[in-house]
Amino acid sequence: MATSVQMKHVFAVCAVMLLTCAYQAMSRTLYESSSAEAFQDWTSQHGREYVDDAEKERRFKIFAENLEYIEKFNNGGKKSYKLGLNPFSDLTEEEFIASHTGLKLNSSQPRSSSATYLSVDDNVPESLNWREKGAVTPVKDQGRCGSCWAFSAVAAVEGIFQIQKQKLVALSEQQLVDCDNDSNGCDGGLPDHAFNYIIENGGIAGETDYPYQGSDGTCQTTQLVAQITGYKDVPRNNEEQLLQAVAKQPVSVGVAVNQNFKAYESDVFEGPCGSNLNHAVTVIGYNTTEDGKKYWLIKNSWGERWGEKGYMKLLRESGEPGGVCGIAMQASYPVMQ
Ligand SMILES: *[C@@H]1O[C@H](CO)[C@@H](O)[C@H](O)[C@H]1NC(C)=O
Ligand SMILES: *[C@@H]1O[C@H](CO)[C@@H](O)[C@H](O)[C@H]1NC(C)=O
Ligand SMILES: *[C@@H]1O[C@H](CO)[C@@H](O)[C@H](O)[C@H]1NC(C)=O
Repeated sequence: MATSVQMKHVFAVCAVMLLTCAYQAMSRTLYESSSAEAFQDWTSQHGREYVDDAEKERRFKIFAENLEYIEKFNNGGKKSYKLGLNPFSDLTEEEFIASHTGLKLNSSQPRSSSATYLSVDDNVPESLNWREKGAVTPVKDQGRCGSCWAFSAVAAVEGIFQIQKQKLVALSEQQLVDCDNDSNGCDGGLPDHAFNYIIENGGIAGETDYPYQGSDGTCQTTQLVAQITGYKDVPRNNEEQLLQAVAKQPVSVGVAVNQNFKAYESDVFEGPCGSNLNHAVTVIGYNTTEDGKKYWLIKNSWGERWGEKGYMKLLRESGEPGGVCGIAMQASYPVMQ
């Protein structure tokens, strides 16, 4: 027969277990209701509507997983950057990459032979921002179309056009999506193919004359406003050469996007990144943080609600040969004479 001390002990254990269970149940519903609330706020903030309740439930599950990932990352010790909710928070990493990137490398193209070495000018400025110099148009949004390559190329052409002609004109990504036959429109392409098309076509139209649709269309003939005479590839895996090029003009680069890149909110991104170059963006400057971190300044094409109002700071001279996210692996820029 159990003594009263033993009985007390048993009661105490039972009480603790019950409390623990109750606490776990409570925190679980708290967690669920707080992510449900966050989802509610997020859908109204982004005007998101779903076709039916099943889809809404599916999107909520993905959202809750993304939110948990973001909170774990942000609370998991000192990081050089922050993640956050953005318009893509109800998409999985795979869905997002399939619908919002679009760099298709041409493996049959030998790049090293066409790369151009710039003589190294030791007097390039310590920091540079082509946006402050008036050579960068407002951040655009490629939407659900794998047309990053067109946005990356257009931002580089807008840059060199402003630098040489002192006129900032938004140019047409849609024309490249519709007309550059070496690329595949919303199924992906390559900035070098886009440059090549602009050269052979004798120029590119303005955004207002040939506005973005975010889907494949038939090639239209419109007035051309900007011409380029060539393009050059930056030597691969060489951030010093990339710096020399960016010191002269905005440069198109390939990057490897993953879920951290997708949920990037602010400060200096240093990966981890994806393992394949799958996206194209434009480097529009570089600088160093107050605590000495060097970074590239990147213009993306995911709207102003991603990252730092559409921009990203990405760690520079990390020591990785290809640069963080492979930023120095596939860089090129248009030439205008
Ligand atoms: C890939 O590059 C080669 C050589 O420049 C070119 O002939 C070919 O058309 C390109 N293929 C695609 C799919 O762009
Ligand atoms: C570089 O960063 C410093 C410190 O934040 C800032 O004062 C400076 O204006 C930046 N340089 C450029 C070119 O934006
Ligand atoms: C692209 O392909 C279409 C359809 O085959 C053709 O009509 C058009 O002339 C091509 N464009 C160029 C620039 O080669």
